[in-house]
Order: sequence, then C-alpha cells, then structure tokens
Amino acid sequence: MAQSKNIVWHDSKVTKEHRHELNNHKSAVIWFTGLSGSGKSTISVELEKELYNQGVRTYRLDGDNIRHGLNKNLGFSPEDRKENIRRIGEVSKLMVEAGLFTLSAFISPYREDRNEVRELMEDGEFIEVFVDASVATCESRDPKGLYKKARAGEIKGFTGIDAPYEAPINPEVTVDTDQQSLEESVETIVKYLKAKGYLA
Ligand code: PPS
Repeated sequence: MAQSKNIVWHDSKVTKEHRHELNNHKSAVIWFTGLSGSGKSTISVELEKELYNQGVRTYRLDGDNIRHGLNKNLGFSPEDRKENIRRIGEVSKLMVEAGLFTLSAFISPYREDRNEVRELMEDGEFIEVFVDASVATCESRDPKGLYKKARAGEIKGFTGIDAPYEAPINPEVTVDTDQQSLEESVETIVKYLKAKGYLA
C-alpha cells in the first residue's frame, strides 16, 4: 500500500495523559478474540455497561457493525481479514488516545494480525481477552445460522469450519464460555482490570 509523502505529525496541547487526569482513569483497548458465536459481542456489551456504571468512559467496536460502514469494502479472505484488523487496530489506538476504554470484538483469527495491533499500543494498553469456546459449542448455539450455512457449503472460508482460528498463546485474560456464565465472564475481566490497577 502506498505510504503518504510530505506529511508532518502535528502534536496536540491536550495529551492522552491530560485526558486520563480529566477522566480519572487510564485508557486501553480490551481486545476480544474468538470464534463466531463464542460470546465476544455479548460479553463486551455487558462489560461496557458495567464499566459505564462505574463511571468509566468507553466505546465499543464490533465486527458486524464495523463491516456495515468503515470496512464494508472488505470480505473474509485472509488479506481482507488482515486489513480489517489493521484498520480496527488504528481506530482502537485513536480511541485510546482519546482517553477511552475501547472494547474491540472481532474474530481476529490470525495471531500475527492481533500482535501487530498489540505493537501499535503502548505497554499495558492492549488487553487481549480470549473468548474460548469449542467449535462444537459455537455450532450448537449458531445464533445467526451461519454454521449451518457453512456446513451446507453456502458460506466458504468460515472460521472454525474451513478457515483457521489461531488461539492466543499468552492472552491477558481467558474466559471459557463453554463453562462460565455471562456474569462470570464479565466478573473475570473486571477482576483483572482491578488487579492490574485499571479500575479502582
Ligand atoms: S474477522 O475475521 O476478524 O475479520 O471477522 P469480523 O470482522 O469479526 O466479522 C465476523 C462476523 O462476520 C460474520 N461472518 C463470518 N465470520 C467468519 N467467517 C466468515 N466467512 C464469515 N462470513 C460472515 C459473522 O457474523 C461474524 O460475527 P460474529 O459476531 O463473530 O459471530
């Protein structure tokens, strides 16, 4: 992709640190990764409500929603998924700069793509949450009927069926939605945020 030329970075007088002071909390991206139907969106919605109730400023970015707008020109080939995650990574970084807890929920099946987002952020600003559920569980839930279509060959390259999912090796948090309830998953993440000093 062409690199822009003749452009100069322009610093603001209001920094991320000023925003942290104003908000009374830090900012970071909570990056949910997992299979379709693993519970990424459901958990991020609940967690966002919990954070809001605690006075934390947040914004949520979600696969299906972003693919309606910013990334509507992208499909599900490995290259398009990479570009999808690259753009979301950049948007997440802007939101973290803006002082927000950013909840990004994308399958993000490739380890390398997720690690590139991690590299964009400063230390402690990337919290990877592995939403772990087996293909069998996700397929039995099949909330959008997509696994059924994938099995019938109506969707090609469906993650977990005929496209890969690379689980995180060392995520900050794992929630096992085969076993844990929604409330337990949210609590696991909130506990992590408190233990690491992100939340009071
Ligand atoms: S990715 O892999 O990170 O670029 O995907 P993402 O942007 O999170 O979009 C995933 C949602 O798109 C729907 N969908 C598919 N998922 C996986 N594979 C294929 N081929 C596919 N086609 C459409 C599906 O609804 C995913 O939503 P979730 O919320 O994950 O179930």
